Amino acid sequence: MKHLLDTASLTREDAVAILDIAEEMAQVGEREVKKLPVLRGRTVVNLFFEDSTRTRLSFEAAAKRLSADVLNFSAKGSSVSKGESLQDTVQTISAMGADAIVVRHSAAGTAQRLADTGWIDVPVVNAGDGTHEHPTQALLDAFTLRRALGGFPASGAVKDGPRGKGLDGATVAIVGDILHSRVARSNVHLLDRLGADVHLIAPPTLLPWGAETWPVTIHYDLDEAIAGQDFDAVMMLRVQHERMHESFFPNAREYARLWGLSEARLRALPESAFIMHPGPMNRGFEISAAAADSPRALVLDQVENGVSVRMAVLYRLLTGQEETID
Ligand code: NCD
Repeated sequence: MKHLLDTASLTREDAVAILDIAEEMAQVGEREVKKLPVLRGRTVVNLFFEDSTRTRLSFEAAAKRLSADVLNFSAKGSSVSKGESLQDTVQTISAMGADAIVVRHSAAGTAQRLADTGWIDVPVVNAGDGTHEHPTQALLDAFTLRRALGGFPASGAVKDGPRGKGLDGATVAIVGDILHSRVARSNVHLLDRLGADVHLIAPPTLLPWGAETWPVTIHYDLDEAIAGQDFDAVMMLRVQHERMHESFFPNAREYARLWGLSEARLRALPESAFIMHPGPMNRGFEISAAAADSPRALVLDQVENGVSVRMAVLYRLLTGQEETID
């Protein structure tokens, strides 16, 4: 594995290896000294051409916990606003000595382009490319669910969840703006590969062309889907206004009424169902405060686990190792 560009081409073996290394990384996070010296002297560059809070900070925390140096670039306030191209920006930054590049961009395919063009010759990690993919988000979601649902790892270091068998056979719903969501695409591929039964629930206007060919069951009515299925987890997606150039639903109130995870819908779900959201959340819109703050919400676990998962990805790409050494 040279790069991490998507989950569509990630094998089950590579995915499971990353999740297993992330378990070990999580244990480092519980130590008094939360650092491993494995990437000492290496430099990880965060190239962010699109806004981000948790993904950028999470990659920074992950690299620092592995003792790497971190250079942070964000397009706002940079020479990109003076017209500098992607190629020149990337080559300028890599001339400062980058050992890995983490890139987020509004154009689908940017990470692939960096990996293919030969402008740079270091591992590239996709931190979100347009509406295409966001593989580390899917990996941290899978890690969080695997833990919450129990069964991993065999060492018993992690408490068993209610099902006691992890993701295999788990029924997971992804709800809302699938059309604009790179998180949804990455999750569909990865969850399917890890054995989960994936359901997409969205208005027809917010489902992409071709979704019926994905390994998913599609529902157009949230209440019917909740009544008809025993979901183990429900993943709510943010409505991505910044990517909407036309009207996909009548108004915010109508969206919340039909597609929001309200308190009543929370009660209609099985008591053991977990609630997830990649953040940032629009409270009162796609998710109610009752759902976001419920004891069944894994939203902050997702953030916490994101650091361990990104440590695992950087470690694997930069050292080529399959297991960690204490
Ligand atoms: C997501 C993203 O940027 O794709 N956020 C994240 O990385 N946690 C989802 C979103 O912006 O809604």
